Amino acid sequence: MPTATLNGSEIHWRDAGAGTSAILLLHAFPLHGGMWSRQIEALARRHRVIAPDIRGLGRSGSPIGPSTMSLVVHDVRALLAHLRVERAGVAGLSMGGYLALELWRQAPGLVRGLALCDTRAGADSEEGKAGREAFARAALERGLAWVADEMVPKLLRPSPDPAAVAEVRSLIGEGTPAGVAAAQRGMAARPDSTPTLATITCPTLVVVGEQDGLTPPAEAEKLAAGIRGARLARIPGAGHLPCIENPAPFTAELERFFAELPA
Ligand code: MLT
Repeated sequence: MPTATLNGSEIHWRDAGAGTSAILLLHAFPLHGGMWSRQIEALARRHRVIAPDIRGLGRSGSPIGPSTMSLVVHDVRALLAHLRVERAGVAGLSMGGYLALELWRQAPGLVRGLALCDTRAGADSEEGKAGREAFARAALERGLAWVADEMVPKLLRPSPDPAAVAEVRSLIGEGTPAGVAAAQRGMAARPDSTPTLATITCPTLVVVGEQDGLTPPAEAEKLAAGIRGARLARIPGAGHLPCIENPAPFTAELERFFAELPA
């Protein structure tokens, strides 16, 4: 897996496929770019696919302060510049969706299309921010096994497939407690993206797992309703991570969406 020091942080990424149409995949908290393994394999048949690990998660270097959406998007833009990618179709899941919306704000000319998966536009309430700070402290004290115990039941559908549980625990275990804490603090500081939605002019797909308890289908409906021309796809048999829990229809949605993007 390639690595480079970009924007002051060591960043790892997956780079698969070839061709002139690039796709950027932005992962969920507290996983890493490996959560997209099935989508990378499928999409790389037609596109160049780039899936970074954000600071402190997966194999990317530990952050020294909060991984704000703005900072992480600067990392991502530095990566795309390093790879000489000027425009890309972008898919972001949950935290990756927060990042995709920030990327649209910072560099709309870079984005050919947006797939917003299991995510929301709104910022955190004061209670939500306090919960993230408590989680950050506990992650630093108790480590990644505790993080996995807390997060796996929220990320997966009720009565999940044991193979999905094992996969998600392993993805979480490859990060660092400091990276988890930094991402929580960064997400707590994220702005409300609701006003951004009306500015989105590129093709947009909104996707949600039907059993997503973290960003439920009602959130996805709100998101799709706020973006002109957005299409909403629901994935049965999946919670917050349809990329892992029901990858066939989820991947097919992404393949169709990216194949149909205008040049
Ligand atoms: C994620 O899956 O990225 C997180 O659930 C996002 C969040 O905590 O808001």
